[in-house]
Amino acid sequence: MSDRFVSEVKLFNFTEIADGRGKLISLESNINIPFDVKRVYYLYSTKKEAARGFHAHIELKQMAICISGSCIIDVETVKGKTSFTMNCPNKGLFMDGIVWREIRNFSDDCVLLVLADAIYTEDDYIRDYDSFSLRLKSLT
Ligand code: TYD
Repeated sequence: MSDRFVSEVKLFNFTEIADGRGKLISLESNINIPFDVKRVYYLYSTKKEAARGFHAHIELKQMAICISGSCIIDVETVKGKTSFTMNCPNKGLFMDGIVWREIRNFSDDCVLLVLADAIYTEDDYIRDYDSFSLRLKSLT
């Protein structure tokens, strides 16, 4: 069991480098991404009616960036529930530790890029909502 009791989300605004040709955003470990990036994955071609997530992590730090289209990320932390509309490549949703997340309303062109501070392991998942709620109560 983890002894790093964290349950936080924070919206980041990344600096855009714009010129006459368009825009560019650079993401760098421990500079504008608050961790060492060990894994990158992306969700795309998500069916309109589909929703993803429905889990929390124990230790994982993640930054979710909607680099195309839009989606909604509902989160629950020790502070309560919040929804974020992700529709801009310069916004990143940082999720640290025990955060329940559900992702919905994917547009057809949605590409949700996720940076993570650890390689994939099922051991870090809490997939049962009741177990998540119990864990959160132990934080308060
Ligand atoms: P899952 O985390 O359940 O997706 P979501 O939370 O977006 O609904 O992952 C779906 C499948 O993909 C599951 O079998 C685990 C696998 N997977 C990997 O192999 N590596 C990864 O980095 C991730 C995120 C998932």
